[in-house]
Amino acid sequence: TTMDSCPRGDKVNDKVVECTDPNKGFPCPPSPSSPTVDFSGHVTRVTRVRRPVHLLSLEYQEKYKEAVRKMKALPSCNPLSFTAQAAIHQAYCDGHYRYSPEKTNAPFDVHNSWIFAPWHRMYIYFYEKALGDLIGDDTFALPYWNWDSPAGMTIPAIFTNPGEDNTNPLYDRERNQDHLNKLVQLDRNDQSDPIPFNNNSKSSSNDAKYEAEVFRNLCLVYQQQIRLGKDARAFLGEKLCVEKVVQDTTNSQGTLESLAHTAMHIWTGRSGPPPGAACCSGDNDGFLDHAGAFSCKNDMGFLGTAGRDPIFYSHHANVDRMWHIWSTVQGNKGFDDDTWLDASFDFYDNYDKPQLVRVKFRDVLDTRNLGYTYDAESEKDLPWMKCEL
Ligand code: C2O
Repeated sequence: TTMDSCPRGDKVNDKVVECTDPNKGFPCPPSPSSPTVDFSGHVTRVTRVRRPVHLLSLEYQEKYKEAVRKMKALPSCNPLSFTAQAAIHQAYCDGHYRYSPEKTNAPFDVHNSWIFAPWHRMYIYFYEKALGDLIGDDTFALPYWNWDSPAGMTIPAIFTNPGEDNTNPLYDRERNQDHLNKLVQLDRNDQSDPIPFNNNSKSSSNDAKYEAEVFRNLCLVYQQQIRLGKDARAFLGEKLCVEKVVQDTTNSQGTLESLAHTAMHIWTGRSGPPPGAACCSGDNDGFLDHAGAFSCKNDMGFLGTAGRDPIFYSHHANVDRMWHIWSTVQGNKGFDDDTWLDASFDFYDNYDKPQLVRVKFRDVLDTRNLGYTYDAESEKDLPWMKCEL
């Protein structure tokens, strides 16, 4: 993949991204001559165990907040700052990198193909590692939004409480306010009105409507993981072909991307901008909603801005966990294709002395090689496994 033009004119200079404007800074693709080191796995050192956000101890919640607070306090020109992290995601999906004009000049995107799962795994790995580094804790693990379990089927409270004097770094006001404290709808085609989330639904199973919605969510995950996600192509997405990227991309997605993942982006934000709407320009982010009113409440619902919402990373930790479960508990195999296995991306590591690290897809197929895993408890009794339709 050659990514050779940088429309914003930003530079990579001695390993540090120079942001021209903290709100608009799009890091360039690292230039091919930037010094990189090859990723060397952890293998025997699994220090991080990712747990569900809604089950974190108070102490762990504070740790998560402290780490994100520190990341947000880094100068935006630091590639491990929160601003830069969000901009990296935008750069890789919002038309900022293009194939060379001799090819198609089409935008390069880490979505809509078999790049989706491994790229996002790498991306949140470096995000998680930076958070751990910032608080000096190599056991820090990115908590995941456990939306596939009934108790996790709402936007977790840790993200929705602004905190005293707006001090909660996990809070984001650019969310759909109508969906706070509601039971999520993992099925995008669910037209019913959202209903209040009830963490005790198990004990009061007299609420048939509630139980039906929970069941519908579980069945959606069953579709994604089992019924439709039956092989690598179906689950992880189609091989990326330059010739095809100019065409409609949605049917090249795997079910890991197209189902619960996309639904929760839209649920948390709103669905993305219609063609031609003003967007992605700092305070002017927004779009005309269906009633024709200008709406600014949207980070997660549009890929270009999604990384600005801290919940993005916990959402993607669960997307990553669904891939992990698919490959381990469910015993599925990924692609056996060297083009995929040898594809690599460069990411910044070390907030105090940023260094580019080149990681291959084959390095990230087993999370243990990245030094993290998911709590074993969450892999027993997966409630959606039993959803037979
Ligand atoms: Cu890069 Cu959930 O998206």
